Amino acid sequence: MNVRYAGRSTLRDMTAYRGSESSNAEGDPPVAFDLSSNELFLPPLPTVLSVIEEGFTRLARYPDPTARALTGEIAGHLRVEADEVAVGPGSAGVLQQILLALCGEGDDVIYAWPGFDAYPLLVAMCGASSIHIPLTASGHHDLEAIRARVSARTKVVILCSPHNPTGTMIDDARLRSFLRSLPDHVVTVLDEAYVEFDRGGDPPGRSEVIREHGNTVLLRTFSKAYGLAGLRVGYAAGSRQIIATVRKAALPFGVTHLAERAAISSLHSAAELRDRLHAVSAAREELTAGLAALGLPVLPSRANFVWLPLTCAAEPLARAAAAAGVKVRACPGQGVRISVGGAAAHRLLLTALDRTDRANWS
Ligand SMILES: Cc1ncc(COP(=O)(O)O)c(C=O)c1O
Repeated sequence: MNVRYAGRSTLRDMTAYRGSESSNAEGDPPVAFDLSSNELFLPPLPTVLSVIEEGFTRLARYPDPTARALTGEIAGHLRVEADEVAVGPGSAGVLQQILLALCGEGDDVIYAWPGFDAYPLLVAMCGASSIHIPLTASGHHDLEAIRARVSARTKVVILCSPHNPTGTMIDDARLRSFLRSLPDHVVTVLDEAYVEFDRGGDPPGRSEVIREHGNTVLLRTFSKAYGLAGLRVGYAAGSRQIIATVRKAALPFGVTHLAERAAISSLHSAAELRDRLHAVSAAREELTAGLAALGLPVLPSRANFVWLPLTCAAEPLARAAAAAGVKVRACPGQGVRISVGGAAAHRLLLTALDRTDRANWS
């Protein structure tokens, strides 16, 4: 029997999310260090781990569907009201809620490209179309080009700062002038998944940006700097009206009790977080210097990864790394993203690249 495809047209040509594809070839050693997904290379904060262990006894129970305690803590942390915060299973889950709540068929969502590779799929899930705006040569957002593509069809603009995969940040004054220039029907999602790496764990709350530009939604996560990627918890902050709609698009019980406890404890562990972020910055600078010393182009990064704009050599570099047991993320034709690892991971990677013939890499 012939089954006719009756699904959402925007999903027809998409591939289910697979994260980092393997660059392993036959005969490669097993992956010793996975530097392909921008995870923290350190375990969760010690205080947070003990809180998670205590929470195991409640696993037979559903979590609080409103995650009230965590929502209140985040509101205090950002200096906004609790009804201006929505939580969900990772910031990817919260972004899905935002897009489902705000977009549908015939709508456009604009964002810089290359970007976080889940954006195209999340946009397609709600039936909208993606418009990709190339980054500038320095790996920054081209805000003028983004603004020029805004039309009556545009429902959402996603800005990512620090940007995945380049690690660049959008300057505050330029951000505000961009937000001021947008028409009222456009909501801007400011994805700050990596912002804590830049500010030593104390990023600006952004409450004034949310107040001044009521159509701006801040998106953050506990997956990156807090090291809780496996627990799946993230949040959005914005105007009451937008957040009320975003909450309606949430999967029931999307934030587990363990995730809620761990996230609250993380917000209370500012000093532990600061120490850890200093260690990540130092490791990032060491990795950047090591790659530059090999003659490789590497952009200065404000996150926990670095970007090498290698148009022709992205795959060869990823293969050379895989042959040494290090997994990195190649974006064919664009570059390679390498997450910050520890000293041992960097040593293995840099030694392998040093031994590779790099004559045609540029
Ligand atoms: C820019 C950006 N936003 C959001 C996410 C989603 O993270 P999570 O769903 O774990 O919060 C990622 C993950 O890599 C990312 O790079």
